[in-house]
Amino acid sequence: MRAGPVRVGVIGTGVMGADHAWRLDEAISGAVVSAVVDMDIGRASRVAAGLDGARVALDAMELIAADDVDAVIVASADETHEAFVLACLAAGKPVLCEKPLAPTASAARRILDAEQAHETPLISIGFMRRFDPGYLELKAVLNRGSVGAPLVVHCIHRNAGAPAGVTGAEVVTGSAIHEIDVARWLLDEEIVAVTARSPHHRRRAGSAPDPLLLSLESESGTVVDVEVFVDASYGYDVRCEVVGETGAISLDAPAATVVRLEGQRRESLAADWRPRFSEAYRRELQDWVASVRAGTPSGAATAWDGYLATVVAGAAVESLARGERVVIAEPERYGAAG
Ligand SMILES: NC(=O)c1ccc[n+]([C@@H]2O[C@H](COP(=O)([O-])OP(=O)(O)OC[C@H]3O[C@@H](n4cnc5c(N)ncnc54)[C@H](O)[C@@H]3O)[C@@H](O)[C@H]2O)c1
Repeated sequence: MRAGPVRVGVIGTGVMGADHAWRLDEAISGAVVSAVVDMDIGRASRVAAGLDGARVALDAMELIAADDVDAVIVASADETHEAFVLACLAAGKPVLCEKPLAPTASAARRILDAEQAHETPLISIGFMRRFDPGYLELKAVLNRGSVGAPLVVHCIHRNAGAPAGVTGAEVVTGSAIHEIDVARWLLDEEIVAVTARSPHHRRRAGSAPDPLLLSLESESGTVVDVEVFVDASYGYDVRCEVVGETGAISLDAPAATVVRLEGQRRESLAADWRPRFSEAYRRELQDWVASVRAGTPSGAATAWDGYLATVVAGAAVESLARGERVVIAEPERYGAAG
């Protein structure tokens, strides 16, 4: 067990990086944020000013190599993850990388291969739903077997709004990737085929495929249907239902309060993912810090999970482009690292 707190460096102080840094500072035991960095120095400085004793690093590579950084959170843009995670591996430092591990399967594979050189896995992936009390309960009930074998899983993932110019590939690798990981984790099975479709959207003809519908087929034949609607306008809404042979288990958005007024029953929805998954982020970070202190693997998704999620995401992007079902090749599913 490491003496003293883990000194964490945070790369990227946008929405997620700032959230992780503040949570580490205020709600996690056994860690301090020692350094932060962002391409936008003003943003990094504002976040550092709100933390207890964090400095602003010169750049991400300086932060990773620094003596005052024991472990790293990568919360910068998706396309930067590969270079930063590889640098963490070269420095022998544990890294919690936000999802996706990388935007493409080939980049994720390079990271996975680099991690094999280390005796203890150093990479944890921020698929935080694996720490959400609701998803954990859903999986526990499913595993108890009372609803029988899972036949269908329905997943809904809606965001209030999306950045302008978001592409179909980004809807898959940035958003649908959460449901892809949930499907593998809930079912304890690999996804063997994907079909992606998108309805005609009259108001936004020519824009990203949104909503995006995915049909994922598992090894044993369970079908997971996914609706991702990143520009759904009304709020953040994540749901999941597992339909088994003898019953169904549903996860719904937990509302703190319900207002009954003027003949209506109203629940408010979160504007984005942070309030909905705040307890999941807290548990994920606490688990990661404890694992770094103990020098043992965390309970988070591994580099292998991150790689396989990108393989399925790549097949979904291909299916969207080709307009047909894409079968995921055996070597990808059962590669050497599996
Ligand atoms: N787990 C989740 O629920 C969840 C939710 C949202 C986003 N994410 C992931 O978290 C990451 C960050 O997303 P976000 O929403 O915070 O985005 P964001 O745009 O708010 O923040 C990203 C930050 O990274 C910085 N950055 C980009 N390139 C950099 C570089 N080379 N060096 C230093 N800083 C750099 C940007 O300036 C920006 O401040 C992404 O990988 C995203 O997919 C995860």
